[in-house]
Amino acid sequence: MTPEEFRKAGHELIDWIVDYRQGIDSMPVRAQVAPGEVRRSLPDHPPADSGDLDALLADMDALVLPGITQVQHPMHFGWFPSNASLASVLGDIASSGLGTLGISWESCPALTEVEEAMCDWMRQLVGLGEQWQGTIQDTASTACLVAMLAARERATGYSQCEGGLQSESLPLTVYTTGEAHSSINKAALLAGYGGDNIRVVPVDPTTRSMLSGELAGMMGEDVDNGCKPAIVVAAIGSTGVTAIDPLEEIVRIAAEHGAWVHVDAAMAGSAMLLPECRWMWQGVESADSISWNPHKWMGTILDVSLFYIRDAQHLVRVMSTNPSYLRSHADGEVTQYRDWGIPLGRRFRSLKLWFHLRLDGPEAIRRRLRRDIANAQWLSEQVHAAKDWDVVTPVNLQTVCVQHKPAGVVGESLDEHTLDWVGRINRSGKAFLSPAKLDGRWIARVSIGVEATEREHVAAMWELMQEAAAPGG
Ligand SMILES: Cc1ncc(COP(=O)(O)O)c(C=O)c1O
Repeated sequence: MTPEEFRKAGHELIDWIVDYRQGIDSMPVRAQVAPGEVRRSLPDHPPADSGDLDALLADMDALVLPGITQVQHPMHFGWFPSNASLASVLGDIASSGLGTLGISWESCPALTEVEEAMCDWMRQLVGLGEQWQGTIQDTASTACLVAMLAARERATGYSQCEGGLQSESLPLTVYTTGEAHSSINKAALLAGYGGDNIRVVPVDPTTRSMLSGELAGMMGEDVDNGCKPAIVVAAIGSTGVTAIDPLEEIVRIAAEHGAWVHVDAAMAGSAMLLPECRWMWQGVESADSISWNPHKWMGTILDVSLFYIRDAQHLVRVMSTNPSYLRSHADGEVTQYRDWGIPLGRRFRSLKLWFHLRLDGPEAIRRRLRRDIANAQWLSEQVHAAKDWDVVTPVNLQTVCVQHKPAGVVGESLDEHTLDWVGRINRSGKAFLSPAKLDGRWIARVSIGVEATEREHVAAMWELMQEAAAPGG
């Protein structure tokens, strides 16, 4: 494709994206395709020759769009908001169009330095102190793995350069709660801590927050039993019910044992743009690392996961590589982001943030976040007031966890009822929400926060919920 052909095709593609976004609310929210249907609709073999864009876009319409669960749809209330603001989409396109290679500062000084600036702007926007230095990881899962590795090396005095974990005499222990995202457990396993050394700290039955007294007790017991507490992962906004762990107490307890504290604020980090929400991570300045995803509620298109660390030198020591082909005259004066995480080559991801912040602006983002919090409060009030309905966990942010409990329906019958009415809504294509288990029982989560979701959509969702849960609904 020549640059001029690209210009023409690019305009067509942008038009196609605009049409898609404008027509999204006429599509079913959950993909209605059967397993294997998309794959079967694609040719078995690659094309032999070049083709034209119109045919390709026709296939995008016919084959790809039906296979998308429309997370940008205003009636999407599933999982968590995965907004993709069009301003950040432009940044993504710019990043792709530039075709940069981020393997060292020298390979693209702008990539490194715009990323430094964006991480620092975002630090200021969420009210973190100047001690924090940031980088962009692909996801919070990777960020947590990096934190686990950094904690492991601090706890072992850089054992990776010697016998590694295999030569450690004291098992290293990891602490989190049952509300933590599955990526925390996965990161601990991948970092070599071993499943037997992951401690699940009990939570408060109402707030689902980590019980700090239990954490202190478990750490003390582990030390008595010859283990070494290495890391606590605290959730600020857990995935299921947006639980908030008591960070101030956690960092104090962890410090007594020299354990690392990683703050997983993947979803709720966006709320820290709002000064009135920052009490939720009170104590964060004494943690060791933080991750949060602008690619969730804030709306910078995937993949932008911010990872902040207090001791960047330690991270670089754990992650650094210095092969001869990557050395340059500027080493020593510049940031080499390859030493801040796992991959060598990186995309120019910070452009998504730059475009988002410059074109939409923080104030509009804050207004939207406040709108979503108010909508969640509104829904929670409706549910509270309705007969046989319960809000089952505190509504800290934009997720409302509910159960419909008709008289006499309990235990497994209640589970069946919950899955039945949720399934009915999801199959209808009119809206989507994702159930989850709480204390072994199914609940329905209504996660509000899609960019296009206004109060009228939340009200329509509440209507649908009542209809679907009613007898014969
Ligand atoms: C609290 C929390 N942590 C971590 C993750 C994992 O995020 P990612 O997909 O960026 O790895 C999620 C995703 O839902 C989450 O809600």
